[in-house]
Amino acid sequence: MTNNPTIQELSHEDRAFPPPADFAANANAKADEYDKAAADRLGYWAEQAQRITWDTPFDTVLDWSEKPFAKWFVGGKLNAAYNCVDRHVENGLGDRVAYYFEGESGDTRTITYSDLLREVSKAANALTELGVKTGDRVAIYMPMIPETVFAMLACARLGAPHTVIFGGFSASAIADRVKDCGVEFVITADGGYRKGKPSGLKSVVDEAMEDCPEVRNVLVVRRTGQDVAWNDDRDLWWHDVVDRQSETHTPEAFDSEHPLYIMYSSGTTGKPKGIMHTTGGYLVGTSFTHWAVFDIKPETDVYWTAADIGWVTGHSYIVYGPLANGATSVLYEGTPDTPHRGRWWEIVEKYKVSILYCAPTAIRSFMKWGRDIPAEFDLTSLRLLGSVGEPINPEAWMWYREHIGGDRCPVVDTWWQTENGSILISPLPGVTETKPGAAMRPLPGVVADVFDDEGNSVEPGNGGYLVIKEPWPSMLRTLWGDEERFKKTYWSQYPEVYFAGDGAKIDRDGDFWVLGRVDDVLNVSGHRMSTAEIESALVAHPKVAEAAVVGASDEMTGQAIEAFVILRESAEDGGDDVVAELRNHVRSAIGAIATPRSIMIVPDLPKTRSGKIMRRLLKDVAEKREVGDVTTLADSSVMDLIQKGVAES
Ligand code: PRX
Repeated sequence: MTNNPTIQELSHEDRAFPPPADFAANANAKADEYDKAAADRLGYWAEQAQRITWDTPFDTVLDWSEKPFAKWFVGGKLNAAYNCVDRHVENGLGDRVAYYFEGESGDTRTITYSDLLREVSKAANALTELGVKTGDRVAIYMPMIPETVFAMLACARLGAPHTVIFGGFSASAIADRVKDCGVEFVITADGGYRKGKPSGLKSVVDEAMEDCPEVRNVLVVRRTGQDVAWNDDRDLWWHDVVDRQSETHTPEAFDSEHPLYIMYSSGTTGKPKGIMHTTGGYLVGTSFTHWAVFDIKPETDVYWTAADIGWVTGHSYIVYGPLANGATSVLYEGTPDTPHRGRWWEIVEKYKVSILYCAPTAIRSFMKWGRDIPAEFDLTSLRLLGSVGEPINPEAWMWYREHIGGDRCPVVDTWWQTENGSILISPLPGVTETKPGAAMRPLPGVVADVFDDEGNSVEPGNGGYLVIKEPWPSMLRTLWGDEERFKKTYWSQYPEVYFAGDGAKIDRDGDFWVLGRVDDVLNVSGHRMSTAEIESALVAHPKVAEAAVVGASDEMTGQAIEAFVILRESAEDGGDDVVAELRNHVRSAIGAIATPRSIMIVPDLPKTRSGKIMRRLLKDVAEKREVGDVTTLADSSVMDLIQKGVAES
């Protein structure tokens, strides 16, 4: 039932690592958090909500009367940007560093909370001048630079939900998202630095805008100084508009359920889903988990989430969680191997990073590059390590603990999803005895379980479907403009229970092991992609008659995209170039992250008598295994033809 059979092995693990005694003694979250939450779950969340400054206090913790549409902290009013910025300055912490920005090429900026307040206020004034109003959606397509955070918080300040689009997405992916949520205002940059070169961002937005006539302005940050095309009626430089604004701005309080942002994520159909988060619950969830899971001590820690702001991990643990807690974070623009493979460790040493959060795929790259590289740097500032985005194999977990954490740092494997808003299953670093590869336990206040097909909890030692049985504050509220899809995707498998789409196992000790997706969602280097999305990109190409995409296990990226394509008759003699052409086509339709590792041209696809493609068999081919049971195929000779073709290629 999992995409990745090797992951099955994960759940046999006898090694266990208790928290170091001094860590446990000083930990933010102690074991009694579980008891408190179990005794009174909603009371526990009400208590966590006190981490946030409310302009008007809430009167009801949860309104679950219109299931599955939850309302949290009902009646409460607050401003997310005020909580992330102003209140820290008001509390005398204006000189504390909010971000150490490190550009890929080595340029740096230190941004204090006072600086942040000034920059966000100016940006909010600029957006207001340009006609952005409460409720308007604003798209942000940016590199990892401080202005990305300023832009997000300026939107939050005005109650204008942002939709940040990962900088690796293509023009047509931008256009789809902009149109889906009715964006009229876009913020971008000329480019960013990636792998030592300036990348083009404005040029991609320009292309997208050809399809988005309703966008009235594109605000452009100058990052690289590269030449960009300019549309005088539409384009504005950030520095022309923002720099001259007043440095003060009065934030308005919004309803707890006011939309904070929309983040598009891949589902099981071709169309990405606009996952909507609201203000109060999301901020409570991110701030609480950042406190409990990352044990943040804002006075002394230097915290680093090495992820992109364009994904939910960046939203929750580069921007909202750390800022709500008044923490000091590192913001790094570039890739781990530019200009050299010790770049991350150089950054840890330079800023004395104490907490590092990243994806297993990065850890596996570091393993491949060898332990000698981190060994050249002083990593003794580290005290806690986190992992997110995909199952972490025990070898990578152990390597991370040993070679990065010097055997002294707890490792927290955190399970959650874009939909969840914040971490739901994870060890508490000062409490939990961790096992390499296990996300361990639902956090206090979270009620998770593993169900069988009938909706019964599985017995310890067994696998099934991961579900969340009670609502949680930072849960998605809906899919933008598509309530039916929201209900169908998450709430229709079992009544009143959230279906995560992941396979999981509870071991004999009651600990959770998340095994991977059970649907047609792929996880490539911690990035979520849907098979259907890639298939529809492929069939949109004039030479393609039919396509099937599977995720094959890959040592480095977790899964890799493998496509099987039937060409149209007219294209059959398309020559060797057709594969390259199709790879480029997917890249420009979705983005480089969706480029298939390989594309096999096949004469036919394995289908059941009812016409359903049996991806399981294609996966066997892609993973070079013996092909499984073919008896349900309409034509069982198809697999012979495919295998013959693969052997010859
Ligand atoms: O399959 C699970 C996997 O990533 C999916 C969520 O992807 P996304 O919404 O892009 O969010 C990623 C970052 C929060 C999940 O359905 N996943 C995430 N974390 C883990 C994981 N799988 C196993 N272990 C994890 N710690």
